[in-house]
Amino acid sequence: MPRDPRFDILFQPLKIGPVTAPNRFWQVPHCTGMGFSLPQTLATMRGVKAEGGWGVVNTEYCSIHPTSDDTPAPYATLWDEGDIRNMAAMTEAVHAHGALAGVELWHGGWRAGNVLSREAPLGPESMLAARVPWQSQRMDRQDIRNLRDWHRAAALRAKQADFDVVYVYAAHTYLLTQFLDSSTNPRTDDYGGEFADRARLVRELVEDTREAVGDRCAVAIRIEVTDEDGKGGEERAGFLAELAPLVDVFDVTIPDYGTEMGPSRFVKEAVLEDHIAHVKAATGKPVVTVGRFTSPETMLSLIRRGVQDFIGAARPSIADPFLPAKIREGRLAEIRECIGCNICYAHDGLGAPIRCTQNPTMGEEWRRGWHPERVPALIGKVEPVLVVGAGPAGLEAALTLGRRGAQVMLAEAGNEPGGRVTLESRLPGLTEWARVRDWRLHQISQMPNVELYLASEMDRATVLETGARHVFVATGSLWRADGRGRSHPRGVASFSDPRTMTPEAILNGARPKGPVVIFDDEEYHIAAGLADLLASEGLDITYVTPAGRVADWSAYTVEQSRLQSRLIERGVTILTDTVVTGLVPGTAELACAYTGRSSRIACEGFVPVTSREQQDSLWTKLKDAGLTSLHRIGDARAPGLIAHAVHDGHRFAREHLEPPDAVEVRRERPIC
Ligand SMILES: Cc1cc2nc3c(=O)[nH]c(=O)nc-3n(C[C@H](O)[C@H](O)[C@H](O)COP(=O)(O)O)c2cc1C
Ligand code: SF4
Repeated sequence: MPRDPRFDILFQPLKIGPVTAPNRFWQVPHCTGMGFSLPQTLATMRGVKAEGGWGVVNTEYCSIHPTSDDTPAPYATLWDEGDIRNMAAMTEAVHAHGALAGVELWHGGWRAGNVLSREAPLGPESMLAARVPWQSQRMDRQDIRNLRDWHRAAALRAKQADFDVVYVYAAHTYLLTQFLDSSTNPRTDDYGGEFADRARLVRELVEDTREAVGDRCAVAIRIEVTDEDGKGGEERAGFLAELAPLVDVFDVTIPDYGTEMGPSRFVKEAVLEDHIAHVKAATGKPVVTVGRFTSPETMLSLIRRGVQDFIGAARPSIADPFLPAKIREGRLAEIRECIGCNICYAHDGLGAPIRCTQNPTMGEEWRRGWHPERVPALIGKVEPVLVVGAGPAGLEAALTLGRRGAQVMLAEAGNEPGGRVTLESRLPGLTEWARVRDWRLHQISQMPNVELYLASEMDRATVLETGARHVFVATGSLWRADGRGRSHPRGVASFSDPRTMTPEAILNGARPKGPVVIFDDEEYHIAAGLADLLASEGLDITYVTPAGRVADWSAYTVEQSRLQSRLIERGVTILTDTVVTGLVPGTAELACAYTGRSSRIACEGFVPVTSREQQDSLWTKLKDAGLTSLHRIGDARAPGLIAHAVHDGHRFAREHLEPPDAVEVRRERPIC
């Protein structure tokens, strides 16, 4: 389908200083969990983004010096010659597709604990470094001179590595923000006090960077439009105007990271518009901002109305590296929209290469050679495949097998496809999670070789009746009602009680009687989401968890603090460091997770969210059926995240009938 000419404006080149961006799609700096240690993995992934049409592709935060070391979080480095070579792999991969490559020069200040480099952290003040019990060295004039030298040297290395855009990074509570913000800068010298003095270091680094690279590279600044407390907007606007002659592009945001990269549960598309709308007029320079943009209409509107010049995107570019190409080619329905789950960010936080719930190829471009838009065709005689279960694993497997040319029957026992995705998207705020189902259903609906059969429960006999010699069992998992989980590996006999109700039952519409006790032994989001849902309906809820806070693991997805606030606001009673040990009539028995001290609370309804049981009995029954191939995938194999299920479905479908030596998982071992 040809592109709607209305979208042409998104593909107009724009000059930024000495370079020209080929279009308006700007992949803002985002971590990858790859950093300096996996340069080929990183370069290949960034190259795929450029291939997919992102006009500017940036690095993650890139340390300028060993005094800025965020270990164990993976980050990029431009410390020395070896880094130039590694970074050049990325710029080459990006340039190969006509895109510009940008680098975000980073000093973490006291937020960098320097665990690896063992340098003292630096800061405008001596302050505790992040997540460690040691403090920064208060920077004196010489330290500031050193910092300027390191920044200038890193900018020159960036130029050598062939970057086109060099960022000064004055956001996200790192060193420059620590100087800028009055709440973190108590200095009384030229670098503290009034805003103009607190901003001195930023101004100097912009000047230094301009001088170092301005003939070859655009100078960008990533900066917040207010102070940490949301105030100081006018001063900041004046400062941006003052910087404008030296800066080619302003990448602007707000200090609230939980909103900037907010999960869809709490934050919707284009949330920054009102905050940054003044920057273009104030500076007269091109502006980038983010907002989990996946709607081409929203993008068009923002550019047309002059709110911004570039569509900044991290997560949308992770979920669909080919988003710009799909708009360019009029293939809007093929855009794989980010669902805002922040599983990408969680894995960076875990120190592992990022992955994506929607895009199973993310992070696998080099390691497994996976491309988001291409799969190898099946070779030889193509035999029909039966996929049992249309949850996230089954849908992805059916789609990928279909793309490979197989004739696919996708059988779903229920009347609705989507499995756990359909259920979980009923939790408050999670409607966008249904995109995992809907995108795949739409793609499948366009494929004549994939047929979906609803209300088709399969057993051994009906599977064999289909005549399919290849079967994928994607029958998911169910929450255990017997309490088996971390706290009670063998379960709790008294949980077998008429008051006990599983998460699936509630998400299918059943309701417990109050007062309800929800036992969160899993510690991700389901129990907290159920507490939110039931409390919103007026039920008296007590949320119990052995963790020290609500939905502990959701801190990785930037949801924890808002989930906890939400439960507090809803009037949910929260009992942390506590385990439910049993049910007796009218009450639940509790124990302190540390001392074992017992107590009781009223309980007429009980929801254990402990662990799940894989539903793989069909797979077991088919093992001796003489099938040519039989796979158990997704939660039916090992209950996990939706991202695991999608990845598993993709992987087994991609590897289906491939010769073993064609299925390579490369390990990257840097030598310099
Ligand atoms: C996995 C991940 C890593 C990120 N790392 C960085 C980073 O290194 N530097 C930075 O300035 N912003 C970083 N961000 C923030 C993004 O640049 C962006 O501002 C945010 O994700 C909101 O944009 P989006 O809605 O398009 O995702 C990161 C975001 C994600 C999702
Ligand atoms: S992991 Fe989730 S938030 Fe991150 S890009 Fe993928 S769909 Fe979006």
